[in-house]
Amino acid sequence: MSEPKIAFIGAGNMAGAIIGGLIAKGYAKDKICAADPLAENLQKLQQSYGISGYQNNDEAIAEAEVVILAIKPQIMAKVAEQIKGAINARQPLVISIAAGITLSSLQHWLGDRLAMVRCMPNTPALVLSGATALFANDCVSEQQKGWADQLLSAIGLALWVEDEAQLDAVTAVSGSGPAYLFLVMEAMISAGEQLGLDKTLAEQLTLQTALGAAKMAMASDVDAAELRRRVTSPGGTTAAALQVFEEGQFQQLFSDALSAAEARSKAMAKELGA
Ligand SMILES: NC(=O)c1ccc[n+]([C@@H]2O[C@H](COP(=O)([O-])OP(=O)(O)OC[C@H]3O[C@@H](n4cnc5c(N)ncnc54)[C@H](OP(=O)(O)O)[C@@H]3O)[C@@H](O)[C@H]2O)c1
Repeated sequence: MSEPKIAFIGAGNMAGAIIGGLIAKGYAKDKICAADPLAENLQKLQQSYGISGYQNNDEAIAEAEVVILAIKPQIMAKVAEQIKGAINARQPLVISIAAGITLSSLQHWLGDRLAMVRCMPNTPALVLSGATALFANDCVSEQQKGWADQLLSAIGLALWVEDEAQLDAVTAVSGSGPAYLFLVMEAMISAGEQLGLDKTLAEQLTLQTALGAAKMAMASDVDAAELRRRVTSPGGTTAAALQVFEEGQFQQLFSDALSAAEARSKAMAKELGA
């Protein structure tokens, strides 16, 4: 796979995570640059990874084959307006990682014949264990799709969806998902403490259990429901706990929560879009 020249617009957390992942995979540092108005943000990335930095977005875009928009969704319209000229002069593949910004908004702001990929990563990307879903518009070539895949795979799992609308559901499942699992951990730790465990012990046991369960589910050839059944002996301790979850309509609660996240994702696209 060839290594295109990449420019990150925005040198914050996600740009840092993707750059860290690329460098760890051996990507040439002289093929990566970042632009950010804050010199301090650039210095951090320059010192950690030896990439070049620009305080002017257009300078970063001038030689790029891939431009990654890694800025907050709220400023996307303003930044797109600023970089429109440089993007249209260069015609790179544009990848947006901004939550809730649709390709139609980006096309409206930047131009409608540009190759664009919209993706939805999640926070575990910061520890190179992210889950990202990607969607490409019709202008994206197979080579460019390969580039996007390569770049987002540097921070974890990268999967393509066929319909952009699915990114709202993706946001509800994996985009917001880490917070649901943190909530479950939080509740388990606090319940463990109520049962008399020391906080540190409850925390260590909970986190290792979460890690172990995820590893087991990933390594297994049966689904999560079957794994759950296999650790639930009739009349046992797990069955007693699961019965309480069932009585509290846990599955329904999750379904309602994810529907709320999906609806909010759709509403945000309208609020932030063109
Ligand atoms: N963090 C996540 O886990 C996550 C997950 C999914 C999607 N995303 C998406 O990823 C994007 C970036 O998130 P983040 O967490 O990396 O945010 P962040 O840390 O705030 O990074 C954004 C960077 O852009 C800089 N910036 C501001 N104005 C700019 C301009 N005009 N030109 C270039 N850069 C500019 C910011 O500088 P200042 O600090 O000076 O403002 C900041 O360094 C967001 O759109 C978010 O929706 C993030």
